Amino acid sequence: MRSLLFVPGDSPRKMEKAAGSGADALILDLEDSVSLSRKTEAREIVAAYVAGAERAFPAPRLIVRVNALDTGLTDDDLAAVIKARPDAVLLPKAGSGADIQDLGARIAVEEAEAGLDEGTVRIHALMTETAGGLLQAGTFAGKSGRLSALAWGAEDLAADIGATSNKDETGRYTDVFRLARSMTLLAAAHSGVEAVDTVFTDFRNLEALTSECQAAVRDGFSGKMAIHPGQVPVINAAFTPDPQDVERAIKIMALFAAAGPEAGVLSLDGKMIDRPHLRQAERTVRRAGLDPAALPAMDAGDAT
Ligand code: COA
Ligand code: MG
Repeated sequence: MRSLLFVPGDSPRKMEKAAGSGADALILDLEDSVSLSRKTEAREIVAAYVAGAERAFPAPRLIVRVNALDTGLTDDDLAAVIKARPDAVLLPKAGSGADIQDLGARIAVEEAEAGLDEGTVRIHALMTETAGGLLQAGTFAGKSGRLSALAWGAEDLAADIGATSNKDETGRYTDVFRLARSMTLLAAAHSGVEAVDTVFTDFRNLEALTSECQAAVRDGFSGKMAIHPGQVPVINAAFTPDPQDVERAIKIMALFAAAGPEAGVLSLDGKMIDRPHLRQAERTVRRAGLDPAALPAMDAGDAT
């Protein structure tokens, strides 16, 4: 997924706007953008929206950000929204892989109650919002088959460590936050899931957003979170690969699909291709936001 647009969970108007924004996913927020007094109402609004929304490709994936596990609010969030079958739940302030397992078990209970297959709802996690989560980056791997993306956040981490700003006078993230960004890339690669870049809060400055997106693509992020619909076209453009690269990636996937699961090394246009090339090709195709049904050897749940 290239662009993931945050939408406050208590705003049906913004949900309608977001649906037409071109974002690959909407993150319907029950956490920081919703005040405590409006949590119940937001749960109802989000559940109704997810239940009634168009879901077929290319409609955006629907992700619900629940409240953190230590708030006492998470179970009520899940009880309200899982039955509407969102594509994923985004866990803020994830402290370690154990939190992913914990959330997975809670989701499983709600899936069972709603008659959904276990594992229907995936998990995305914000893993750098606390010092503890960042220090436990290696533990997110291999804990739950639901985990499909790791993202980083800078605002809450600043509050956790007592930093008065996360950027220096030139606008560059300071060391701790650059470390958080790098650890997210490493943890995502180690876990075999997508790495998602953090929000750019100065939402009127599209030039600076463009540079931040280019750096994110270069470094291995597969997408970026947005807070305003105006950011979506910039993010989509930056994370959409060149058509020649997509064409080549589809060829590589087709070759491996035709050669069967045992194939290790093949050749294309006189060059050796092996399994790392296949993984790279799959990433390219996902970033292209293509209709997964049209591609060989790809699980629909893994595409875009
Ligand atoms: N999703 C959907 N629609 C949005 C939107 C969003 N994230 N942000 C703005 N819009 C809509 C506005 O409602 C407005 O539509 P309208 O005039 O028809 O009502 C239009 O886009 C233009 O908005 P604009 O006036 O430029 O911005 P704003 O001052 O209304 O809103 C924010 C600014 C930051 C409050 C808003 O962008 C927002 O709510 N962002 C998401 C915040 C969030 O979820 N944070 C948590 C994660 S960090
Ligand atoms: Mg936050």
